[in-house]
Amino acid sequence: MCGIVGYIGNKDAYPILIKGLHRLEYRGYDSAGIALLDNNAELHVYKTRGKVINLEQFCKDKNINGTIGIAHTRWATHGEPSDINAHPHYSQSENLALIHNGIIENYLALKQMLELKGFKFISQTDTEVLVQFIEYIMNEEQCSLYEAVHQALSQVVGAYAIGVLEKGNPNTLVAARKGSPLIIGVGKDEYFLGSDASPIVEYTKDVIYLNDEEIVEIKRGAKEIVVKNLANIELKPKIQKIQMDLSEIEKGGFPHFMLKEIFEQPKSLIMCMNGRVQTELQDIMLSGIRENIEKFRKARRILITACGTSWHAALIGKYLIEYYCKLPVEVEVASEFRYRNPVIFEDDVMIAISQSGETADTLAAIELAKGKGAFIYGICNVVGSSLARVTHSGTYTHAGPEIGVASTKAFTTQVAVLTMITLLLGKELGTIEISLYKQLVKALFEITNKIEKIILKADEIKNMSKIFTYAHNFMYLGRGYNYPVALEGALKLKEISYIHAEGYPAAEMKHGPIALIDEEMPIVVIAPKFKMYDKIVSNIEELKARKGRIIAIVSEGDTTISNIADYVIEIPNTEECLTPLLTVIPLQLLSYYIATAKGRNVDQPRNLAKSVTVE
Ligand code: G6P
Repeated sequence: MCGIVGYIGNKDAYPILIKGLHRLEYRGYDSAGIALLDNNAELHVYKTRGKVINLEQFCKDKNINGTIGIAHTRWATHGEPSDINAHPHYSQSENLALIHNGIIENYLALKQMLELKGFKFISQTDTEVLVQFIEYIMNEEQCSLYEAVHQALSQVVGAYAIGVLEKGNPNTLVAARKGSPLIIGVGKDEYFLGSDASPIVEYTKDVIYLNDEEIVEIKRGAKEIVVKNLANIELKPKIQKIQMDLSEIEKGGFPHFMLKEIFEQPKSLIMCMNGRVQTELQDIMLSGIRENIEKFRKARRILITACGTSWHAALIGKYLIEYYCKLPVEVEVASEFRYRNPVIFEDDVMIAISQSGETADTLAAIELAKGKGAFIYGICNVVGSSLARVTHSGTYTHAGPEIGVASTKAFTTQVAVLTMITLLLGKELGTIEISLYKQLVKALFEITNKIEKIILKADEIKNMSKIFTYAHNFMYLGRGYNYPVALEGALKLKEISYIHAEGYPAAEMKHGPIALIDEEMPIVVIAPKFKMYDKIVSNIEELKARKGRIIAIVSEGDTTISNIADYVIEIPNTEECLTPLLTVIPLQLLSYYIATAKGRNVDQPRNLAKSVTVE
């Protein structure tokens, strides 16, 4: 949510910042802006409503010189998307410019105080309050920018990742973080700022992950940067290597990141299972689980918390763990869990799932459970993210960067990790027969080839999708492991095509949603051939009797449903507990092709952002 980027060095800052903004645009695209200190140390701010491309257009006839700058792409929280509310924000004297990702919660109190001192505000944002507050402190205390930022942040309540520039001071870039991510790239005589590594990786692989409440002063040409925390203690920053290739964050010939990411699922699953699913031994190696097996053995239950698509993966985790490990599992939407004073036992194990590792509600749910003594196990894609740092142990999904706002490969890799955890736990706890364990390990390994086969049907699904662009509503039904897949299919369609869609447990449909069914209503029914098959066939008959248009996802060779449903997509046969890894693929493709046929921008759907760093 909001992307920030910064540069100080000996190259022109503008092209680096603009490219960085394009890479971070998935985090928000309500407005974009840039601040540069030119060769005379004059400060220039250019900003405009809309996407980064509009900003580039806007800057065409402007002075874009300078080797130091900051830039921002916004997902609006306080104040509508507009030129004025766009970042960077100037202070009153226009001596300072600031970019911000997060929310300053006590901004109204600070604003009132500053207004009494004669400060005038032109935007509705909390960010403008922060930059004015820093200027106020600089004037009052006659202190440096770094000192003023330090003092201001000590009085701020809320979340922030910020970058600040000062007119007449072309050799200093100040940045800080609390609750919102910020990475510093360390190059040769140059430094970069980024909300994630994507704007940095092209120039350097050496990075410093800033921790919460750390403030950094970056001096041009300096060998080292100064990092202090809010308690004014100087810290020694640790330089780490990022494991990311440029090709991973480019579209590679695909029209959209989302399609690229759907197609790359076999590869991302291979990366995810690499060294973990051991085919020769028919065994699973997950050091995080093995090292902490006693925590799981002693746990009276498991809590799984997440948001959005990750929450759907969590629901599948519940089905898996309860079935194979005989441990009670409660799945909690993080934003509800954190505020409802939940019962948390010291022997609880919480599994927290997040692609980005930066979702504010998920991080808050972790802090809550951790504070009550629970053991926290993370499942996360982004290496070095906040989640990875606050959990006791965990497993990375290794899906590679996911840039499309609608999550696809993150979901399948999360489900794969949950499956690996389940199987290993089941084996260690003795709740799963060894022969069945080996059979499932083998089947999990074979799943990637089966996904390849489904992806070969992309054109068939594309043709089918054209039929459904008329629809205003869609229903998705599934049972057991595939009920969460129905929720995920509906979410994908809503997010990128703006068609209303509901996911439901197939049998529950009779308790309300069936009233919506008529000849206009497409209903996607996930119906692989397992123990609930006959029941779901009956559900389909009930829907057909009411003239619903059925798109069924069925097992290879199914003839019964093929005769009743209007459209059928076959998936290869596998074990029942692994079917979500297959059934979700045609649903992702269906949403993608419906959305593109309707002319939607699937990588940047309206009102959404990929990384929700505010609650
Ligand atoms: C946003 C994204 C979703 C994602 C959710 C949780 O809503 O648009 O795709 O599932 O956040 O994100 P996380 O990074 O915690 O998995």
